[in-house]
Order: sequence, then C-alpha cells, then structure tokens
Amino acid sequence: KKGNYDHFMQKEIHEQPHSLTTTMRGRLKDGAVLLGGLKEHLKTIRRSRRVVFIGCGTSYNAALAARTFVEELTGIPVTMEVASDLLDRQGPIYREDTAVFVSQSGETADTLLALDYALENGALCVGITNTVGSTLSRRTHCGIHINAGCEIGVASTKAYTSQIVVMAMMALAIGSDQISTQARREAIISGLFSLPSNASQVLKLDSEMKELASSLIDSESLLVFGRGYNYATALEGALKVKEVALMHSEGMFAGEMKHGPLALVDENLPIIVIATRDACFSKQQSVIQQLLSRKGRLIIMCSKGDASAVNPGGSCRVIEVPKVADCLQPVINI
Ligand code: UD1
Ligand code: BG6
Repeated sequence: KKGNYDHFMQKEIHEQPHSLTTTMRGRLKDGAVLLGGLKEHLKTIRRSRRVVFIGCGTSYNAALAARTFVEELTGIPVTMEVASDLLDRQGPIYREDTAVFVSQSGETADTLLALDYALENGALCVGITNTVGSTLSRRTHCGIHINAGCEIGVASTKAYTSQIVVMAMMALAIGSDQISTQARREAIISGLFSLPSNASQVLKLDSEMKELASSLIDSESLLVFGRGYNYATALEGALKVKEVALMHSEGMFAGEMKHGPLALVDENLPIIVIATRDACFSKQQSVIQQLLSRKGRLIIMCSKGDASAVNPGGSCRVIEVPKVADCLQPVINI
C-alpha cells in the first residue's frame, strides 16, 4: 500500500532508512561481516583472477559505485559489463573469473542470458538480488539477497542503495583476511552502522529538492559531473532524470570535462557537480572554477559545512549532505 505517498517510487525513496537496516540485519556482528550465502565460496573468490560485475540499468550503476572499494578491499581487479554488451561482443569470461550478477528483480532477460554465457564459460557465478526464488537466485552458484523489501516502482530506488551496501559487505568479507586493511575495514563497518540515520537526515531535504527541481522544469538538459566513488552517482542521477522526468540528462566523468563537454557550458545549461569530501575533493574544486569561468549554471553537492569551500563567490546553488565514509557516500548522495 502507498500509505500517505503519491506513488510507490516516492514511498520506496522514503523507506531507505528502514530498507538499509534490513539489508544489514544479522550480517554485521562483533566487527565482522557474516554473509551466509558466500561463506563456503570466499576462498574460491579470493583466488579468482578477476571480478566481473554484470547488470543492466540501475543495477549496473550500483555495481559501478562498488567497483572502487571492491578493488581496494580485495586487491582483485574488477571489470564492468553491461549485460547486453557482453553478449553482443561475446566478451571473454574465464574459469578463473568470479562473475557477479546484480539485478533487483533477478529476472532481467539480458542479465540471465549473460549468466548462461558465464556458466558455459566456467566462471564462478554470484548473484546479488532482491528477489528470493528468482531465476537469478536459483541459477547462480551462490549469492546474497539484498533484503530491501518488495520494490514496486519500476525505476529502482531503495534496491540501488541496498545493492551498494551488500557489495560493501561482500568486499569486506572477501578482504577480511588482509591485515593491512583492517583499520579501513573497521571504519567502513562503523560507516555502515550510521548509514540509516544519515539517510534519514538527507531525506529531510525533500522540500528543498522539490523547490530546486521546479527551477529546472524549463531546461532542456541537465549535466551531472562526478568522479571517483561518485562517478556512478552522476550516471544514476542522470538515468533517473531521463526515465522519470523525461528530460535529457547525462552523467559524465568530471575528469573528462575539458575533453569535450566544456564546449556545452553556458549560463543556461544547468550542471550538477558532485563535490562531497573524498580524495578527489580538490580536483572537483578546480572543475567548479573552470565551469564558473565559462559562466556555468551550477548546482553543487557538497558535504555539510563545505558550502563556502565549494562556492567561494556565492553564485551557485549548493546542496549540503551528511558526510559518511567516503566509499559509502554514493548511498547518501543519490
Ligand atoms: C539465510 C536465509 C534467511 C535467514 C538466514 C539465517 C533465505 C533466502 N535466507 O540468509 O531467511 O534469516 O539465512 O541464517 O532463506 N543465493 C544464490 N544466488 C543469489 C542469492 C542467494 O545462490 O542470487 C543463495 C546463497 O548462496 C544462499 C541462499 O541463496 O545459499 C540464501 O542467501 P541469503 O538469503 O543471502 O543468505 P543468508 O543471509 O544467510
Ligand atoms: C529496467 C528498469 O527496465 O531494468 C531499471 O527500468 C532497472 O530501473 C533495470 O534498473 C534492471 O532491472 P533489474 O531488475 O535487473 O535490476
């Protein structure tokens, strides 16, 4: 039931403090991660030459958000595959690969065809899905249910954030035998515990976001620049604007801004720049300066307290969001 909400997508957005909690329930104990579905397979995954993430749409973007911290915490190279493109190319998948399939429904045709392909090629196939009993859940060798609760909105919302959290727990579990990253793992685990309350905080921006959105109604296009952990946030933000607001939007690498997209910048085109605190922060500050020198119309997302650091001239619209562990920041920013 929709309750007091206008539609399911809105309800599911506001459910996230709860869905993030149910995703983590019973899986974080005494500073360790317990994923029943992966327990027997962790050794094989650690020995694999590569992790290949495979999905479509929002689920692909969630995997992209996870890529950096999976590489960081496991030391295993990660490659990304859009399911249909893997099939079109008949791209290489090997016995030594761990192929991770991400799908809210567990029934997306391209993802399932890519699963058949990876099974034929002998890879260890891991599922990450919201749907117990789905084809993906049944046909993979092992996996993790994200336990976000039924998602009715076609444009995925709460499943996206729960998928990222599950992949963070997966990376922590795979990397749990590494002493050198122990302090980092502890910091991420404490960040996971604080995510639901930070999600509640950021959802309080609802009416401010509605007011901001109404100022964009007449725009023909919206660019979103992100980098590092939040490149995926830029892609997923733009996907939602296309799919739900029916407006042209592109998510782009901020580091590629000067290699083409800069030509589009003028005082009319709205541009969101994601500049929350992480190792890329100073690079984003200089991107903002370059966009402003072209009179760009900027909406800057930054960490709470950073408004003057990202907008010294005071000419931009700023959205301040709670700061969490850098690799979990995409959950809050989206
Ligand atoms: C499981 C139970 C959960 C119970 C918990 C208690 C199920 C579905 N889950 O959760 O109700 O509270 O134990 O210990 O009964 N799998 C795949 N592919 C996928 C997803 C999952 O093969 O895409 C497999 C897993 O490898 C595992 C099983 O399905 O064997 C259940 O996965 P999951 O629900 O994530 O396991 P637990 O969190 O241990
Ligand atoms: C698309 C939906 O059709 O399927 C997207 O519009 C979704 O929102 C995509 O992300 C993939 O779905 P699933 O169930 O495989 O995550």
